[in-house]
Amino acid sequence: MTTQEINSWLEKFLGDSEFENGLKVVLSNPVKKGAVTKILITRNPGQGGTTFTKNEFVKDQCFTAILTRDELYSTVLEIWSQYKQVNIMMPEVTIQLLYNGKNKGKILQDDASNTKLFTKTEKSYLIPKETPFLQHLGVTTSQGQVKATMQGKFRQINKFVEIIQSTVKQSDLNGLNIYDFGCGKGYLTMGLHHLFTQKLNEKVITTGIDLKAKVIEDNEATAQACGYSDIQFRYGDITNVEVPHGSMMIALHACDIATDIAIHKGIISQAKYIIVSPCCHKQVRRSMVHQPLTKPITNHGILLERQAEILTDTIRCLLLEQYGYRTDIFEFVSTEHTSKNLIIRAVYTGNNKDNKEQINNLMETFGLRGLQYLDQLLSA
Ligand SMILES: C[S@@+](CC[C@H](N)C(=O)[O-])C[C@H]1O[C@@H](n2cnc3c(N)ncnc32)[C@H](O)[C@@H]1O
Repeated sequence: MTTQEINSWLEKFLGDSEFENGLKVVLSNPVKKGAVTKILITRNPGQGGTTFTKNEFVKDQCFTAILTRDELYSTVLEIWSQYKQVNIMMPEVTIQLLYNGKNKGKILQDDASNTKLFTKTEKSYLIPKETPFLQHLGVTTSQGQVKATMQGKFRQINKFVEIIQSTVKQSDLNGLNIYDFGCGKGYLTMGLHHLFTQKLNEKVITTGIDLKAKVIEDNEATAQACGYSDIQFRYGDITNVEVPHGSMMIALHACDIATDIAIHKGIISQAKYIIVSPCCHKQVRRSMVHQPLTKPITNHGILLERQAEILTDTIRCLLLEQYGYRTDIFEFVSTEHTSKNLIIRAVYTGNNKDNKEQINNLMETFGLRGLQYLDQLLSA
């Protein structure tokens, strides 16, 4: 096989597997006698997501790094041709790649079981890779494998769904209206609907709304092809949508103030659950004017941007609390997939807090010229 053929083979092999039952990769016998004599990569058991440890051996030293699934993929593809021998071991198969360091090599495959080498750590997902809508949306291949480029999306869907499942009370599910504002291709809309109706056997009514007519049309077709009922996709602006009392509102990366519109719709309809992952935070950033106290922070573009994010989401939480919600903010996926990885989770309790002073103080400290957009909507 030529270098290019080996590379294509590896791309497919590495892209097609999550290595959820274990993986060891050993790269040895370097083509050029350089500093790194051997590299060992192993999958870390018991991690929430999939991570790998890379050990680089240099003389009598060892340098360690943690790799994500996507980094493992790109690292092996980038460096394999610097080694004459590459062993890839999984519980069910061993691959031995022998390379002459120029343009020739061969791949030997041994299907003998290696289970003794590995501790079995199979991760079961709420939305497993075999779920039909994943294939319709291009997350998985026709063989039901998660595509290399969609690993992050697959984990994101599962993590978001997992969080929602752990948040919602089972007794609230029967007849619950779920609204996904800015649903896009409907990954999450369908993930959640699938979990509640197909796995938990609950009757929920799900609606995804988006400004893009074509994705709405495609989503309708996917839902129909997957045999889902009680799910609908509506084309239009979320501003014009009426939400019934006591629903669940979700919005994953709805752009800038679309997150505020979603939260606002949730608050005024007294949604039981409002769970959003904010996207960009332009509105607050534009209205911030340097203040003497905070100028050392806001003088730096990137810090101004981050400060605007923190400020926006803090004010959103304070407002939610004012309207009777218990809130928390946390990271839901690692930044490997997206830096937009915060979730604001709000559960209605009816316990209204008076946070006005705190909001005013923050606005003054950071020089906000006008109200944060959710505040504007609530004050109208
Ligand atoms: C970044 S995408 C996220 C899509 C999806 N939630 C996901 O995470 O895969 C944001 C989506 O919000 C939609 N959107 C933004 N503002 C909207 C509005 N005012 N009304 C309806 N949809 C909106 C966009 O069309 C886009 O599809």
